[in-house]
Amino acid sequence: MNSVSLINLQQRCQQFLEIALAIPEAAAPAQIRLAEAMRYAALNGGKRMRAMLVYATGILFDTPLDLLDYPAAAVELIHAYSLVHDDLPAMDDSPLRRGVPTCHLAFDEALAILAGDTMQSLAFELLSKVPLAAAQVLAMLRLLAQASGLSGMAGGQAIDLAHTDTSPDLADLTRLHDLKTGQLIIASVQLGAMCGGVTSGDIWLKLTELSRLLGLAFQIRDDMLDVISPCETLGKPVGLDLTNGKYTFIDLLGMEDCQQMLDDLAKKAYLCLDGYPYKSQLLFELIDFTVNRKY
Ligand code: IPE
Ligand code: IPE
Ligand code: MG
Ligand code: MG
Ligand code: MG
Repeated sequence: MNSVSLINLQQRCQQFLEIALAIPEAAAPAQIRLAEAMRYAALNGGKRMRAMLVYATGILFDTPLDLLDYPAAAVELIHAYSLVHDDLPAMDDSPLRRGVPTCHLAFDEALAILAGDTMQSLAFELLSKVPLAAAQVLAMLRLLAQASGLSGMAGGQAIDLAHTDTSPDLADLTRLHDLKTGQLIIASVQLGAMCGGVTSGDIWLKLTELSRLLGLAFQIRDDMLDVISPCETLGKPVGLDLTNGKYTFIDLLGMEDCQQMLDDLAKKAYLCLDGYPYKSQLLFELIDFTVNRKY
């Protein structure tokens, strides 16, 4: 397990999702179409950042990878569902995702909505199969439900929509992003820790803090990339936040201060694991990746 790399983990997640998203033999033609829409949205690339966080955190505690596969796939499915819905005409109305037409354009709007719904269901089904004691599985299911629901991603998306064409202050913007993007990133780290038998105590708090910093850094970088990254690299439209009246960290702080904030967040995230004897290399690589990523 020592020699595993982030690329290995990305590939591992992809293979696990391929199997989880296999089209059942008994499926009717309309169900096959729905399954194809799910496969299109979930298997077509993506950095697999949230899955890698599950694995990297589990690896801190020598957790077997075949146990981490379930929460890793579950967080990626929730994330993929959130992207399909985020791109819909009623939300960000985006034509491009991961370098290809968005799910509602490749299929249709109704199927994209259903594909999102069904990926969400599949996420919980997979997580329920993690080979741990029932009480642990239940706690993990609850954690993911909270991170993706009203007090997590979906709630954050609602606040994001309500803030369209307004200029929130730093506290408001940070809170919005903590829910919209942060909670699922925090859950990814916490699920990895839970698989390793860690559910409380000092290291749990440190990991939670690390993931909170990472979630904020991730969205600041996302806002920066919406301005600076070429569309071919980004795989999604450039400048869509401006078109859609989204007030971003760039509007609030400017590009230079955003970069400074990213550097500060990365330093603080590193310090969270200072002095611990765990195998932190992959988690450190993910901190660097979050703040330096080009797409
Ligand atoms: C994009 O997430 C949406 C945000 C939460 C900012 P990612 O940048 O992780 O998207 P993929 O999975 O790599 O496509
Ligand atoms: C969406 O944030 C975060 C989700 C919960 C899907 P964005 O709207 O900024 O994500 P992108 O830029 O479209 O990937
Ligand atoms: Mg959005
Ligand atoms: Mg969007
Ligand atoms: Mg964005």
